[in-house]
Amino acid sequence: MKEKIEAILNEINAFTTESKEELDQFRIKYLSKKGIIPSLFGEFKTVTPEMRKEMGQALNSLKNSAQDKFNAIQEQLENKEDVTETDVDLTLPVDFSELGSRHPLSIVRNKIIEIFARIGYTVSEGPEIEDDFHNFTALNFPEEHPARDMQDTFFIEKNPDLALRTHTSSVQVRVMENSKPPIRTISPGRVFRNEAISARAHCIFHQVEGLYIDKDVSFADLKQTLLYFAQELFGKETKIRLRPSYFPFTEPSAEMDISCNICGGKGCNICKYTGWVEILGCGMVDPNVLENCGIDSKEYTGFAFGMGIERITMLKYQIDDIRLFFENDQRFLKQFESAL
Ligand code: PHE
Repeated sequence: MKEKIEAILNEINAFTTESKEELDQFRIKYLSKKGIIPSLFGEFKTVTPEMRKEMGQALNSLKNSAQDKFNAIQEQLENKEDVTETDVDLTLPVDFSELGSRHPLSIVRNKIIEIFARIGYTVSEGPEIEDDFHNFTALNFPEEHPARDMQDTFFIEKNPDLALRTHTSSVQVRVMENSKPPIRTISPGRVFRNEAISARAHCIFHQVEGLYIDKDVSFADLKQTLLYFAQELFGKETKIRLRPSYFPFTEPSAEMDISCNICGGKGCNICKYTGWVEILGCGMVDPNVLENCGIDSKEYTGFAFGMGIERITMLKYQIDDIRLFFENDQRFLKQFESAL
């Protein structure tokens, strides 16, 4: 019996197959009720008492070997089946789920930040709910002065000292309060004005304002900085012109036009046949503002400028309705994926 067990064990160890049928035959031959191994267990009765222990162990291990072999091959075949039966064509391209794209306003904001970062400007941010001092008073808007009406304000009902900021100049006040010149910073952010929504205006929009304060900063520095900025954003051939204007916080104040980036200055319906489009407000920081923020106006001068990101983006991409920026229609937003 011992030899028999050994011979069968060799057979089992040598067994291998790729087919389910052969595996089944293996099971029937060795492991089924009428198979070789159970019948050996039948013969076990005839084994002499001295040999029982040894034979019992040999028989059990034979049975385990057969069962293990069967299980191992069965698992192998099933794994193979998984792949073939699901009918996957591994050469097909992967079905990517669609990625979102950067919002056009973010693209342009980042570009503006990058242009100013190259000439040493940092980025500062501040609160969207602002107090009267930072949004108006420090910026030389006298109390009850009609200049406050220039920017229709959303006040907070429960606390009339608080409002949604109407410009990010409020951030610059905070920067001046908390740091010493030289200051060179831009403040991008969301601003709010109580305006009727139309194709041209929205009650929420975005600005980037800039501030430069140091000894001997002049209007010429302002002009050159803005020329650099306009040419970096709209192209080297861009020209600028400054028109006198009024802001409570700058003196003198100006508005800046660029030569129309669509027609190159020849005249088209975007520039209303003038060849110029307005893009920002600017000026020399009023000495009162410097003093309000704790900066000695006899020692330091500075310039400031501010622009709407929506306006710049609309000009850059010839978008004719500001509301598109806030509707989040994928068909609109997707067009800017690779822009800039
Ligand atoms: N704060 C002004 C506005 O919101 C823009 C501006 C900034 C003008 C700095 C001049 C200087 O309209």
